Parts: sequence; C-alpha cells; structure tokens
Amino acid sequence: MVGMGMIFDETYRPFFEGRSGRPLYDPEFGVCSVPLAAVATRTGRRADAYRAKAPPNLCEFVSYSSEAAVEQLVDGRVDAVCVATPDDRHFAAAKLALEAGKHVLIEKPSVLKLAELDELQRLAEDNGVLAKVVYHKLLDPDHKKLRTLVADGVLQHVNNGYCSLLEPKSIANSQFAEWITGRNPGTYVAVHYIKLIDFTFGLQLKRVTCTGQRGIVGPADGPTWDSTQLRLIYAYPDGREAAFDVHTSWVTPDNFPGYVEQEVQFRFDNGVWNGHSRKRGVECTVEGATPHSIKNTINNHYNAAVLEPWGERAQRGYGIEVIERFMREAAMVEYGGPLPERAARLAAARTLAYNDLAADRQVVAAVEAMEAILARHAAGTPDCVVDVNGPAGGLVLQVPGQREVEVLYSPAV
Ligand SMILES: NC(=O)c1ccc[n+]([C@@H]2O[C@H](COP(=O)([O-])OP(=O)(O)OC[C@H]3O[C@@H](n4cnc5c(N)ncnc54)[C@H](O)[C@@H]3O)[C@@H](O)[C@H]2O)c1
Repeated sequence: MVGMGMIFDETYRPFFEGRSGRPLYDPEFGVCSVPLAAVATRTGRRADAYRAKAPPNLCEFVSYSSEAAVEQLVDGRVDAVCVATPDDRHFAAAKLALEAGKHVLIEKPSVLKLAELDELQRLAEDNGVLAKVVYHKLLDPDHKKLRTLVADGVLQHVNNGYCSLLEPKSIANSQFAEWITGRNPGTYVAVHYIKLIDFTFGLQLKRVTCTGQRGIVGPADGPTWDSTQLRLIYAYPDGREAAFDVHTSWVTPDNFPGYVEQEVQFRFDNGVWNGHSRKRGVECTVEGATPHSIKNTINNHYNAAVLEPWGERAQRGYGIEVIERFMREAAMVEYGGPLPERAARLAAARTLAYNDLAADRQVVAAVEAMEAILARHAAGTPDCVVDVNGPAGGLVLQVPGQREVEVLYSPAV
C-alpha cells in the first residue's frame, strides 16, 4: 500500500480487514490470502496510527517512510501494489512498482498525462503484470443499471447530459492542505464522471473546454481552483455529437446534509436518466451529530459500516468491492491455471476495459486537456479549447484569437 490517507481508511483498510483470516476463494484459483504486507507513506505517522488500532493479525506490515520508501517497498516480498498517493504522485510510484514486476492498482485519476500512461502501459506489458485503475462509480448499482439499459438498447443514443460532484470545504482546507496548491477539483472528482460517460457510452472524445473559479482555497489570480466546469464533446461514427457538462467543487459548506453531492442527468433520443447518489433513500437526523459527524443523507451503497443481521460487524459497498475485484483478477493471473497459460490469463484480465490502464486513454486525455486549459487560464489566457485527434495531433490546445497552437500530445489518443 503506497499512501495511507483518506481513501485508504475508507476502502483499502476495510478490504484488508474484511479479508483478514477470510482469504479470497475461487474454484479456478483456489484459496488466496491477501495480507497487508507493507506500506509506504510520506512520514510514517499514519502507518503508526493504523498499527496502533489495527486488528492483531493486521499489524505485522512493514512500514517505509524515507525518500526511498516506494523503492524499498517494491524490493520486498509484495505481489501487488496499490497506489493511493495524491494524484500528481501516482506516476512515480506506479512506475517503480511495474519496473519491479508487481501488479499495480492506482487510484483515480490513473495519471495526469498521456505520455505517462504510455510509459506505464509499456512497463506493464514488458514485465507481464497488470496495471489497473480504480473507478468505483462504475460498480455503483445505479450506474450498472444505466449501462445495462444502454447496452441492451433500451436507452438509445445519448445526446447530452450533466454531472456534478461537490466536495466539502474540509477536503480543500484540511485533508488535502499538504498538496492542494496548484490543483483543481476537476482532476480530483470530475474523472469519476468522465469515466462513467466514457465507459457507458463508448464514444470518441472530440473537444474539451473548461473554466473555473478561484479565491477561496487560494488567491483569485492564483493556480489553485475552488470549482471547475468542464465540457466534453464526443462524436458518434455518423458525425452526430454528444455534449456533457461536469461541474465540481471542493468548497461546499461542511454543514451540507451529505458528505458529497453527486448527481447525473443523461438525455437520450428516447429517454432521460436522472440519478442522485445522495437522495436515493435515507434521510436521518441525530441531535448534536447531523450534519457534521453523521450526514443526513448517507450513501450506504458506496461504503457502509454495518452490524450484520447475524451479529458480525462489517464494512461493505462498491468502494470496497472494486478493490476485491482487482485482487481476484491478479489471483486469477497468478494461480488460475498452469504456468504456461499465464500469458493467456494476463491477456484476458487486460481486456477488462472498466479498470485497465489501456482503456483509460480518453479519461487521461480529458484530464490533461483540462489541466492545460486551467493552467493557461491561471496565466491570464482563459477559454482555450483542446481538440482531440485533429489534423495537428492527438491533443492540441488552441488559444482564442490566435493561430498558434500547442501540441500537448502528438500521437493519436
Ligand atoms: N475513489 C475515490 O472516490 C477516492 C476518494 C478519495 C481519494 N481518492 C484518490 O486517492 C488518492 C489519495 O487520496 P486521499 O484522499 O487518500 O489523500 P490523503 O491526502 O488523505 O492521503 C495521501 C497519502 O499519500 C501519502 N503520500 C503522499 N506522498 C507520498 C509519496 N510520495 N510516497 C508515498 N506516500 C505518499 C501520504 O503520506 C498519505 O498517507 C488520490 O489519488 C485521490 O484522487 C479516491
């Protein structure tokens, strides 16, 4: 485990705890235990804090925290490496792990540039391992149903839509204070919906625009964004287009009734899909607790600590399920049959477009374009547009009113 911050605590920790003493089993790969073998963090403090409260059979992990922590971790006896550092530090850690021949699972967004994605893909191929990314919203039962209706032709031909994901101020002000300078909430959370759109509708990305607001997290003329509004234009093979607006923020008041606000609307030739991840069922009030330590509307599908009807305490949800899926895929590659057939099993695991890095190209392209547009905006030139796979290259930034273009990525996306 590289990074032991908020997402470790929400999803990886419950995964390791849930699987401790209860290994994975599949008739094809048999019994496979998934212990937390080692961790690498910046200071070691979060590893110490977790060890102090971890269940007895989970405190044996090795903790590395020097400048060389990730190198030391990948030199040790680990089979798979999960990267949950801040997003601009995913690439370095994932590269080291792939070079060392470990299967890798990276938190979203996988990386921030297509050149980095190319390098990780090449390393995964050269070293015969998996390189995958976590987009847990694809496992949300509502999004699975949406995709099923699209795949079955019940909802036909999406034309446009919007998505919003709003995070509380505490994220920008305290949780991420160490790394937030120069960052934006689009890269952090719009990617959830870029992936949902990309994976569900299977269209070709054509154009990216983005704007945003500053002045709360950092100065109004600085490089750190409070909120962003991203627009993605996709094309169908017949030339029709589809447009999606994705709005994000990390300055929503902390007394907001839910932890995050997540909403989508997609309009089709023959229908409309409205989804709201927070308002889908529960409203709870507890005197003195809501809406701070407990939220009024809770997403129990993502991650819920519960008392099971049979008396056991558990933490379950799609946020944890997605990590287990990756571990099962890695176990299948290593143990799902005879060694001479490993290459075929690896190839099969790589065809899974929901999490393979090879299928993350348009998402990374959208992120790279958005970051370049916001950087130009912060430098005094707002409203740039990035064209995808046009005559001048794979990702090409155009400045309003100028003939000059900047090629961000030359090969085809
Ligand atoms: N899937 C989701 O919904 C979801 C939710 C939150 C965060 N995330 C993703 O998870 C990642 C981490 O986010 P977080 O909220 O846990 O952040 P965080 O700031 O709470 O924790 C980051 C962790 O990374 C460690 N770290 C930082 N630099 C490091 C380095 N160079 N080497 C080793 N460790 C290092 C820190 O010590 C800390 O333990 C981000 O990529 C984020 O996008 C995903």
